[in-house]
Amino acid sequence: MRDLAAVLPRPIRMGTAVAAGPLLTDSAYRRTAGEEFSMLTPENDFKPQFVQPRRGVFAFAEGDTLVDFAEANRMKVHGHTLVWFEALPAWMRAEMADEQRRRVMVEHIRAVAGHFRGKVAEWDVVNEPMSDEDEDYVNGNRGVRPQLWFDAMGEQYIDIAFHAAREADPHAVLYLNEYGVEEDGPRWDALYALLIRLKERGVPIDGVGFQDHEYAAGDRTDPEVFRRKVRALAGLGLKARVSEADVLVDEDEEDIQARQLAGKLAVCGEEPNCTSFSTWGFTDKYGSTADLRHYPPSPGNALPWDAAYEVKPAYWALRDVLDDA
Ligand code: G3I
Repeated sequence: MRDLAAVLPRPIRMGTAVAAGPLLTDSAYRRTAGEEFSMLTPENDFKPQFVQPRRGVFAFAEGDTLVDFAEANRMKVHGHTLVWFEALPAWMRAEMADEQRRRVMVEHIRAVAGHFRGKVAEWDVVNEPMSDEDEDYVNGNRGVRPQLWFDAMGEQYIDIAFHAAREADPHAVLYLNEYGVEEDGPRWDALYALLIRLKERGVPIDGVGFQDHEYAAGDRTDPEVFRRKVRALAGLGLKARVSEADVLVDEDEEDIQARQLAGKLAVCGEEPNCTSFSTWGFTDKYGSTADLRHYPPSPGNALPWDAAYEVKPAYWALRDVLDDA
C-alpha cells in the first residue's frame, strides 16, 4: 500500500501502530509493517508509563528500536503520546501541588521530544482532551475532560504542552488526537470551539488526529461527515489525519469493515489537508484494542490482516482506493 500512496498526485502516508515486542519476535509482523506502511506510531512504547517509569529516569530502548526500524524501512515516526491522562507511571499520578504538576508535564515533554528530536516527524502532543461526561459539556469545562493535568492548569495545560513540544522540537508537526469526533454532535462542536480558542491564543498546534475506532454496529461513522470535519479543520488552517482506525466486526461483516476503512482513506486522499491514514495495528494476531472497555485485548476481527497474516477484503479495498485515486 505504501508505494501506491506515495505516487498519488498528492502523496499521503499509510501508517500503522507498531509495538516493539512483536517487532523483535515475529518476522511476518516485521515484514508486513515494513513492506506495507510508510509511517509508524508506537502503540505503547513512547507512553510515559514506559518512557519515564521513575521521575527523571528515562527508558528509551524500546522506543529507539521502533525509530531504528522506521529508519531502516524509510518510514516516518508519528510519536504517541506526550500528554494523556492514561498510561502514566504511578509517581506521575500521585498527589502533587499544581505548580509541581505543571513542571512534571513540561519536563516530560522536553525530555522525550528532545530525545527524539529529528527522528520523530510528528507528535500527538495532547491525547484525548475531550470529556465522556455530558455534564462537562454544559459547565465551565466546555467539554474538556477534567483529569490531573486539567485539574492543575485548567484548559491551559493544552497550550503549555504545545508550546513545550514546539520548543523541544521546532520541526515536528504537532497534533491533538481524539476519538469520537468523526461524527456530528456536542463532542465535535466542543472540540471545534476549543481549536478556535487555541488558535486565537497562538498555540502552536498543526493538526488533529481522528482515531476512528469503530467497535459496535452503532459506531459506524460516515465518511462524508468525516469529510466535513476535515474541511472545517482546513478552514482553521489545520491538518487532519486518520490516526488509529480499526473496525471491529463479526466474521460475516468483513464487507462492512472494508467499506468503513476504505471510505475514510478515500476522504483522506481527496482532502488536501489530510496527511496520513493509520490503522491501529494491522494484524488480528495480537487481539483488538478497538474497544478498550474490554482490555486486555480480546481476539477480534478489526484489522486488514487476520491472525495468520492473510489479507482480508479491507486490505483490497484500501488498495483499490489508492489505485483509483
Ligand atoms: O507491558 C506491560 C506489562 O509489563 C505489565 O505487566 C502489564 C500489567 O498491566 O501491562 C503491560 O502494559 C499494557 C500495555 O498495553 C502493553 O500491553 C498496559 O497495562 C495496557 O494498559 C496497555 O494498553 C494500551 C492502551 O492504549 C493504554 O495505554 C493498548 O495496548 C493500546 O492499544 C491502547 O491504545 C490506545 C491509544 O493509546 C489511544 N487511543 C485508544 C487506543 C486503543 O483503544
